[in-house]
Amino acid sequence: MITLFLLATQLHWSFTHGSGDTFRKAYIVYMGEIPRSQASAAATGEGEGEGEGLRSKTNAADLQHNVLSSVIQDVSTAQQSKIHSYTKSFNAFAANLLPDEVQKLRDNENVVSVFPSRIRKLHTTRSWDFLRMPQALKRNHQIESNIIVGVLDSGIYMEAPSFNDKGLGPPPLKWKGRCQVIGNFTGCNNKVIGAMFYNNDPATSEPNPSPQDEQGHGSHTSSTIAGASIAGASLYGLAQGTARGGVPSARIAMYKVCWPKGCSDIDLLAAMDDAIDDGVDVLSISIGMESNGFYDNPFAIGSFHAMKKGIFTACSAGNDGPDLYTVQNTAPWIMTVGASGLDRQFLTPVKVGNGIETTGLSINTFSPKKQMYPLTTAAIAANSTLSKDSTPWFCDEGSLDPKKVNGKIVLCQGGARLSYIKGLGGIGAIVSLREKRDTSFISAIPATYVDSIFGDKILAYVNSTKFPQAVIYKSNTTPNAAAPFLASFSSRGPAMLSRTLLKPDVVAPGVNILAAYTKLSSVTGTLDDDRFDVYTLMSGTSMSCPHVAAAAAYVKTFHPNWSPSAIKSALMTTASELKIKAAVAELGYGAGQIDPVSALQPGLIYDLSKFDYIRFLCKEGYSGTTLRLFTEDNTDCASVPDIGGHDSLNYPSMYYQFQNPNTSINVIFHRTVTNVGLKNSIYKATVKAPRNLKVSVIPNVLAFSQLNEKKSFNVTIEGPPLLLQTNQITHLSASLEWSDTKHRVRSPIFVTLAEQM
Ligand SMILES: *[C@@H]1O[C@H](CO)[C@@H](O)[C@H](O)[C@H]1NC(C)=O
Ligand SMILES: *[C@@H]1O[C@H](CO)[C@@H](O)[C@H](O)[C@H]1NC(C)=O
Ligand SMILES: *[C@@H]1O[C@H](CO)[C@@H](O)[C@H](O)[C@H]1NC(C)=O
Ligand SMILES: *[C@@H]1O[C@H](CO)[C@@H](O)[C@H](O)[C@H]1NC(C)=O
Ligand SMILES: *[C@@H]1O[C@H](CO)[C@@H](O)[C@H](O)[C@H]1NC(C)=O
Repeated sequence: MITLFLLATQLHWSFTHGSGDTFRKAYIVYMGEIPRSQASAAATGEGEGEGEGLRSKTNAADLQHNVLSSVIQDVSTAQQSKIHSYTKSFNAFAANLLPDEVQKLRDNENVVSVFPSRIRKLHTTRSWDFLRMPQALKRNHQIESNIIVGVLDSGIYMEAPSFNDKGLGPPPLKWKGRCQVIGNFTGCNNKVIGAMFYNNDPATSEPNPSPQDEQGHGSHTSSTIAGASIAGASLYGLAQGTARGGVPSARIAMYKVCWPKGCSDIDLLAAMDDAIDDGVDVLSISIGMESNGFYDNPFAIGSFHAMKKGIFTACSAGNDGPDLYTVQNTAPWIMTVGASGLDRQFLTPVKVGNGIETTGLSINTFSPKKQMYPLTTAAIAANSTLSKDSTPWFCDEGSLDPKKVNGKIVLCQGGARLSYIKGLGGIGAIVSLREKRDTSFISAIPATYVDSIFGDKILAYVNSTKFPQAVIYKSNTTPNAAAPFLASFSSRGPAMLSRTLLKPDVVAPGVNILAAYTKLSSVTGTLDDDRFDVYTLMSGTSMSCPHVAAAAAYVKTFHPNWSPSAIKSALMTTASELKIKAAVAELGYGAGQIDPVSALQPGLIYDLSKFDYIRFLCKEGYSGTTLRLFTEDNTDCASVPDIGGHDSLNYPSMYYQFQNPNTSINVIFHRTVTNVGLKNSIYKATVKAPRNLKVSVIPNVLAFSQLNEKKSFNVTIEGPPLLLQTNQITHLSASLEWSDTKHRVRSPIFVTLAEQM
């Protein structure tokens, strides 16, 4: 459990100062479903009229008021302490509360859960071609233009060409959302049909909030999903090509919840409450979210309500790899997305005075104006008053002498703070690295990250001459044969919150993605950089998540009636394994890299309904109030009996985590597939498994005679105790593939020994 607590320490609690009382803290008080008005409760429940909907909201607000005033008697204190009321998609409110008030609320029979609000962090051209979705791809633009993708992020910069609405008609009729025209935000159009901001938490509050994107992150993610096609996009000539979203005719609804100080649970939940009600089809959320359970996690709760309304939710897995147990956003009804690398990389050549040269990793937009520049090393330019035990090699803050750095390129080893070197008057950096990196970043000054073997040669050269010199050239793009590879930063499983799910589910491109940006921030996001552009390159699972959101929207245009889990199954079972096989590979990439075009014809799908998820929650030990966060009325686990099997969930991947290395492996998975391929088809099972794992599929032939016909099968995996048999092996990976020769439906099977903590 150590990893979780380490993560939690990074999240600072939001202290607020309402009512002059510094001990009050912001909490979310969750009260379940919107109460039905008497009239609609009497009716069958479906198709609530406007009037009844309104009355329900009033009921919810009344109930919230009663509950809050039961613990804070003073009317004005109660009013002041209330931060936000959620009345659209679920019944909840946020308030600044004292510890004893929290306790009393927890005991209130109308309250399901009270949890503290926390502050979360935000975690191109080429990527869609790379995913085999060329510009000329078969699309149904008419249907696609009816798809609305909701993005929870840092706002949107309308002046970026990617958000022009050329060729798009008015918003779809189902759209109920709004556009907040305020401050510098000039308004929406037929591409960006909604833009709202949420800034209710004092811990993240800003003086002039608006949906305007000052950070660029939200413009980047939303243009990756649905940005218009813009020819000739590039970052100062790098990554040149046509920038476009995966579904360029779809509409964007921006819900701005992230601010320079972070993204508050209070605002996240408010945005989810609105988005579900506004009529979005897909939600894309590139924000870090860890918690003790699905019950105190706004995304898990919000996305469950979204799922019930048929809304697909994609979330980023996090950027805490390659360590295990780092994956976030792992609820089974969320599609958890890790990051893969593209087949394009940025290399930056460097040459030193004696003629030797190499290429390093970085994104350097600067072209040299001279043939050579003076070169120094961190050791030579070291701050002479530095204490003995500190080494200047990393070029950390305070380690260098400005006089010795000014006007020079500095050679650093192991790392470098480029802004620091720039601040001292340094004109470039060569960083010598022992470990291999797979991700480069835009540098604030000319810089390149080279292999330490070359770094050592430079050291020897500097030693051998009185006036050492070097030059760093502008980066160029070259093919990367290793693609698709798993990005080292991408968070890995096992999932902490559920020991029966393989997470992340899939990976999508997340390394050096070119997409829209804001001119209100420099391309590196730092103040000392004077490069401003409407495009930039960014890396992170934040960038891979919108690729999956767009892929889901694309699949939905061809299969409007598919449930979110059917779409997820299609994307998972058609994904391709990554090239690089490591022992724990599937803990990084799940089912593999998405292949959106193949996902249109998955053949079979593993579908899941709301009740299946409730069964899963029961099996995971949720009951009583923690279960009521997700269910209506008083559904209890007795009404959703366990169907047996290891995970009780018809998930497209199979995962078994065992605790004791001495026990033999013997688990069974129950699965049911739905035929969405050809009416008459016969699917045969093919298993790939290592010698020490026996995987049997019963039956191993499924004969369908109708579309939408369901067939069940069992997968049994057996093996001797792992540690006793093969030294050191703690993971086994296998797969099941159903095929009728026209479709392949692949599921990863992964067995792992839980870390002995
Ligand atoms: C609004 O725009 C002005 C000028 O373009 C800029 O100085 C200011 O920082 C902007 N304010 C916000 C809140 O974006
Ligand atoms: C040099 O190091 C000393 C001791 O750590 C520090 O006080 C001083 O500020 C440093 N000088 C510079 C220019 O960073
Ligand atoms: C540089 O030269 C000095 C003495 O001339 C020697 O001690 C040192 O090892 C040399 N360093 C490198 C990196 O070659
Ligand atoms: C596994 O077996 C070994 C050797 O028999 C024993 O030392 C160890 O305690 C056992 N581990 C567990 C978790 O039971
Ligand atoms: C799968 O196994 C269960 C028992 O665990 C059994 O009841 C069921 O009939 C089996 N299903 C198939 C398709 O064989």
